[in-house]
Amino acid sequence: MEMKRITILFGLLFSVGTVLSALADSAEDTMVPMEHHDRMAKEKDGRIPLGIPEPMKQHQLANMRSHLEAIQSIIGLIGEGKFDAAAEIAHARLGLTEEMKKMCSMFDNRDFRRLGLAFHESADALAEALKTKDVDKSLGALHETMGYCVRCHATYRQ
Ligand code: HEC
Repeated sequence: MEMKRITILFGLLFSVGTVLSALADSAEDTMVPMEHHDRMAKEKDGRIPLGIPEPMKQHQLANMRSHLEAIQSIIGLIGEGKFDAAAEIAHARLGLTEEMKKMCSMFDNRDFRRLGLAFHESADALAEALKTKDVDKSLGALHETMGYCVRCHATYRQ
């Protein structure tokens, strides 16, 4: 009889212990992934921040969306054989215009500025390639220009 009681007591203590440690584990489960998540976020975005002021951020993003739209238009116009119209867009919206020069000069980061200027110059070269009405040359130049989009986005963030 005595032995049975002790067994039950130990059994109870054991189950309470199991429940408690399970609770502790689940509490840990909810903590660890959060920390893990933060760390992942930091590790994942290793790009160089430009540290640009808030009003300029929106301006830059709007400008970027316009770049993307210009690329879409250029591809569509190449498909339709409208090379002169594509060349005009490449120059006016992506090329090194006075407006783009001014915008690029506002960034403190020298390497970023250089990359931006090289990008706009490549868009003027794209405009020239488009004027030849040669699809292969045009696509080659477009590939070159888009290489700058890819490279800059891989390196910098706002
Ligand atoms: C010299 C650098 C540079 C070049 C070149 C560049 N971008 Fe960007 N772009 C940026 C930065 C910086 C951001 C902000 C990214 C961030 O903070 O995550 C950005 C953001 C964007 C966004 C997001 C806009 C939004 O509303 O969130 C788009 C779309 C974009 N760029 C398109 C393009 C395209 C298309 C090209 C090429 C034709 C291009 N960019 C060339 C630097 C560049």
